[in-house]
Amino acid sequence: MALYSEKVMDHFQNPRNVGKMDDASGVGEVGNAKCGDIMKMYIKVEDGIIVDCKFNTFGCGSAIATSSMATELIKGKPIEEALELSNQAVVEALDGLPTHKIHCSVLAEEAVKAAVKDYYDKNGIEYDKEKFAQTHDCDHCAE
Ligand code: FES
Repeated sequence: MALYSEKVMDHFQNPRNVGKMDDASGVGEVGNAKCGDIMKMYIKVEDGIIVDCKFNTFGCGSAIATSSMATELIKGKPIEEALELSNQAVVEALDGLPTHKIHCSVLAEEAVKAAVKDYYDKNGIEYDKEKFAQTHDCDHCAE
């Protein structure tokens, strides 16, 4: 079996929604201290819906594929739904990732959350701080 699914290879080679957004409603930047990879996520929100989403990832192929898939999954969705996006959902949508690459998907989840948090902060919207607690749950990057 190939190490990476066709979907992972597709999103790595043809990442969706790459770029910068000048008029973003929220921007989130996260990094993985261990591997040094960085992900920046931009969301544009209108009437509570994420109407556009872009990302830039300075990182590994799995980080690129997971951030690409994450943008696809949250685009057009209510902002609360984006907040519920888990790294497992991103991995499932990509038909899996090798175990040692799961932490890359955690970065995608955290980038989305950071962008939502920035949007809430900028607009003075109250939110449950628990939802933004550190979400790291893998052995590879929590060290
Ligand atoms: Fe760092 Fe994938 S190795 S995010």
